[in-house]
Amino acid sequence: TDIEKGTYPHFMLKEIDEQPFVIRKIIQEYKNENDEIKLDLDIRQAMKNCDRIYIIAAGTSYHAGLLGKQFIEKLANIPVEVHVASEFSYNMPLLSEKPLFLFISQSGETADSRSVLVQIKELGHPALTLTNVPGSTLSREANYTMHLHAGPEIAVASTKAYTAQMAVLAILAVDTARAKGLELEFDPMQELGIAANAMEALTDQKEELEELAREYLPTTRNCFFIGRSVDHYVGLEGSLKLKEISYIQAEGFAGGELKHGTIALIEDGTPVIALATQENVNYSIRGNVQEVEARGANSLIISMKGLDKEGDAFVIPHVHHLLTPLVSVIPLQLISYYAALHRDCDVDKPRNLAKSVTVE
Ligand code: G6P
Repeated sequence: TDIEKGTYPHFMLKEIDEQPFVIRKIIQEYKNENDEIKLDLDIRQAMKNCDRIYIIAAGTSYHAGLLGKQFIEKLANIPVEVHVASEFSYNMPLLSEKPLFLFISQSGETADSRSVLVQIKELGHPALTLTNVPGSTLSREANYTMHLHAGPEIAVASTKAYTAQMAVLAILAVDTARAKGLELEFDPMQELGIAANAMEALTDQKEELEELAREYLPTTRNCFFIGRSVDHYVGLEGSLKLKEISYIQAEGFAGGELKHGTIALIEDGTPVIALATQENVNYSIRGNVQEVEARGANSLIISMKGLDKEGDAFVIPHVHHLLTPLVSVIPLQLISYYAALHRDCDVDKPRNLAKSVTVE
């Protein structure tokens, strides 16, 4: 490819740093001269007409889909199901009367997702693809496409496509809400702008995050991520990043579910990364941290300004509660990056993985 790393040692680090600029680019691309959301009218109509949205994706894009469900349900009041493509493909659930399929795919070439697209087209259902590659298979074969504008993503571990997917999903959700005449206090462009600034501030804190990776993940075999509500979904993505590039066995769990099994795995020194960016669960996730600490865990809390407490290892700037995932994922990406680096792993090309998986 013609894409260069420039002064960066790895594409992954470059792509992590590009995220605030990608968000600002998305704000520009999805705005018209009157500062209104610019969107294909057919997409607006399809969103308005459906009675349920089925999000289909794989890997990191699936994790973005979990947050897309939050945006669409909370803002646009449409029920959303999120499915792993390879599961949906062989075990299709009962569909609603007027489903709309939303494919999320950085590459637009994932075979598992394509297999679902082929099946739902045969059933006559409409499809919208969110992709970073407009001419890709999933884009061409769907009825509608929304472009992620993240620029080429080279590192196998996805970073900027994930935050771009969430930004575009938030804009889509707000557009639908407005098209349905719902009153919203949430201004997506303004809030995304604030999030972009927060992301940029965090990419300047690499030394601190490298130190956390050194302190918490030096020779560990495993690592757990806990969170509640949207923090749980970001924890899933954080754990995927860490396992993909550092080969540390990492798992994300819902804070409240720990006591139903997983807590049995906690030993002296087990690293547990907890996210605390949501006011309504701040008290309960901190309770979960105390539970794992009492069993010897080495816990690291990443919280948000305004909700932070003494002893939190890392505090992200304050952003709108719906958009914390775009910001809280940055320290997780960087901690994973440095953990992999410290283990001499091939960060951009981890073993056994491919950037885009074109076989089922
Ligand atoms: C591969 C990549 C992942 C990616 C997944 C889905 O497994 O290694 O990083 O999240 O495919 O890719 P897509 O292009 O559909 O988003």
